[in-house]
Amino acid sequence: MVCLGNICRSPLAEGILRHKATKAGLNWLIDSAGTAAHNPGCSPHFLSQQVARINDVEIGKQKCRQLLKNDIERFDKIYVMDEENYYDVKQIAGNKWDAAKVDYLINEIYPGENRDIFDPWYGGVDGFHKVYDLIDEACEAILRKNMNHS
Ligand code: 4NP
Repeated sequence: MVCLGNICRSPLAEGILRHKATKAGLNWLIDSAGTAAHNPGCSPHFLSQQVARINDVEIGKQKCRQLLKNDIERFDKIYVMDEENYYDVKQIAGNKWDAAKVDYLINEIYPGENRDIFDPWYGGVDGFHKVYDLIDEACEAILRKNMNHS
C-alpha cells in the first residue's frame, strides 16, 4: 500500500487489509510505504490512528518508511492511492517497473477508472473518515475476490 508520506492513507490501508485478511485466516504479507516518506520511523497521523481505532483496527505500532526499488520485486501487488503516487512508483521502480503489479486501490471498487483516494492531510477528521470508508470498501473487494478464487 503506497501513498506520498506513509502517514495518513497507506497506513490505514495496511491496517485495514491486515485486519480483514487475519479475520479470514489468510497469511498475507502486507506492508505500506511512502514515495516521499521524509521522516522514516514516524507513526501514522493521529487522526488515522483515531479513526482506525473507532473501527476496531489498530495501526499505532506501524512505522513509516520510504518505498524502495526492490519492493516492486518483493510484493505481488502494489496499490497506490492517487495518480501522483502511480507516477512516483514508476520512477522509483525504474527498470523493475511492472505495470501488471501496480494499480490504484480504488480500482477495486471502480474498475479501470483510476480515481484518486484524496489526501486528508490538509483537512479535518471528516476527511479521514471518508478516506477510511473508501479504503475499507476497496479492501473488502480485495478479500472477496480472493475468497472466490480459493
Ligand atoms: P499521505 O498524506 O500521503 O496520505 O501519508 C500526507 C502525509 C504527509 C504529507 C503530505 C501528505 N506531507 O506533506 O508531509
